[in-house]
Amino acid sequence: MNGVETQHRVIFNSATDLSALPDDSIDLIVTSPPYPMIQMWDEQFATANAAIAEALDPARLAGDRGEGAFNGMHEYLAAVWRECARVLRPQRFVCINVGDATRTIGGEFRLFQNHPQVVIAWESLGFVSLPPILWRKTTNSPTKFMGSGMLPAGAYVTLEHEYILVFRNGGKRRFTPEESERRRRSAFFWEERNLWFSDLWDLQGTRQRLNDSEITPLRRRSAAFPYELAFRLINMYSIEGDTVLDPFLGTGTTTAAAIGSGRNSVGIERDPALAQAIGTTIDSAPKVGVQRQRDRLAAHTEFVAMTETNGTRRFKHRNRFYDIPVMTSQETDIILPAPGTIEDAGDNPVEGHLGLSETKFELSVPTGFFR
Ligand SMILES: C[S@@+](CC[C@H](N)C(=O)[O-])C[C@H]1O[C@@H](n2cnc3c(N)ncnc32)[C@H](O)[C@@H]1O
Repeated sequence: MNGVETQHRVIFNSATDLSALPDDSIDLIVTSPPYPMIQMWDEQFATANAAIAEALDPARLAGDRGEGAFNGMHEYLAAVWRECARVLRPQRFVCINVGDATRTIGGEFRLFQNHPQVVIAWESLGFVSLPPILWRKTTNSPTKFMGSGMLPAGAYVTLEHEYILVFRNGGKRRFTPEESERRRRSAFFWEERNLWFSDLWDLQGTRQRLNDSEITPLRRRSAAFPYELAFRLINMYSIEGDTVLDPFLGTGTTTAAAIGSGRNSVGIERDPALAQAIGTTIDSAPKVGVQRQRDRLAAHTEFVAMTETNGTRRFKHRNRFYDIPVMTSQETDIILPAPGTIEDAGDNPVEGHLGLSETKFELSVPTGFFR
């Protein structure tokens, strides 16, 4: 079995304009936008759109209890969703991680429900909703209460989860014979399926603080989602060789997970100050990817040993590449991608990867198969 080469592009631009990408050129979208009405994103929304800046004026904000700013921010995101819908091929998936926002405006505490707005936006683009995933963030924070503490009728529930909304356009994907082969190689193990397709994910949040050199006036924290979140979604909803788009790339987690999964990727990020952080993420992506695939194989081997010891189930099939028992015939051709080193990476990731142009970089990753 020969390896392949995956292609990765990062473009520093606003995703409200994806003219660099042709119609129907993307197989999966995995992303997390700036969350409307979370204070850390106010300035970014305000610089992007004058109407939002006005709506965020404290007097206006108190006057309409934040409704104008909230609606303006979702209208801004809707312009990105429209572009995403244009570039996505038919019968493909969209996965959007978004959280709701709590905020005190004019002394009044309230919730802004972001996730239904995103649902409405995608459904109005002709996409259908599929069962979403609740990402329950494992947190060590001891302060669970908001509001009146121990006194009733004035305390508020803590938001400890975010949504991963899933949409699709145009029914089930049909696969050509060549795609069907790649699909079989990209299958997941039976026990992975049971875990990944649960509607509740307990995943640890990721490092939120960027290095000082990476902090811009607009950005104080990275708001990155965990590698595992992007990795699972990519492996659940695309096949080897597909192209994954993240229109709100941030620190480059989706690009790294695509590299680790043998997929191509395109990442769009409006803030060029994140180039360094993205370069660092990409530099470590092959190593992280190989480790993740090694862990998958080790976890499966452990699952087989445990199941055989318990005698709970019998394995009737064998994977032909790894010569290990598997539960179903759909797992016999699984072969895990192993990304190689990125050859054009220099000492300085910005020079190495991003030196071609300040607004865009491209790289290819030789990808073999995990042995
Ligand atoms: C929630 S963060 C994404 C974090 C990312 N998932 C990660 O793991 O690092 C949202 C990102 O969207 C970027 N952004 C905001 N507006 C944008 C736009 N119009 N086009 C492209 N990127 C944008 C922000 O600069 C920020 O980096």
